[in-house]
Amino acid sequence: EQLPLSIEVNGKMQQVNVEPRVTLLDFLREQLQLTGTKKGCDHGQCGACTVHVDGKRVNSCLSLAVMHQGKKITTIEGLANGDELHPMQEAFIKHDGFQCGYCTPGQIMSAVACINEGHANSKDEIREFMSGNICRCGAYPNIVDAIADVKN
Ligand code: FES
Repeated sequence: EQLPLSIEVNGKMQQVNVEPRVTLLDFLREQLQLTGTKKGCDHGQCGACTVHVDGKRVNSCLSLAVMHQGKKITTIEGLANGDELHPMQEAFIKHDGFQCGYCTPGQIMSAVACINEGHANSKDEIREFMSGNICRCGAYPNIVDAIADVKN
């Protein structure tokens, strides 16, 4: 059985039907083909699936799509302004904040939230806020540098 869902994704209103068991992550990737949001662990452990819900970061693998009736979702695809990258995307490039890039969309969504939610006042604070986003290549110092750069 499917349930009706009205949800705004990257500024576009979507009126869709979804199965109640579908996670927000699978809904974005499979139903809307927004595959920038990555599935790492599917259990809330890695942060690869991080998106913003009404401006706050959320692990999209941990919540069901139908819980977001009327909410505004932003994914990595919605961050740039047309051809102009978001300052955090620019900073990740400038500071080499990635190697393989798999965790990068989630890292960037968390990094933007880190500043917006007021947790980027020191490198320690940044590290603490970003601790749920795992990078197996170990790009952590560069990621912290990128966030600190955007903050300043
Ligand atoms: Fe959601 Fe890992 S895929 S936290």
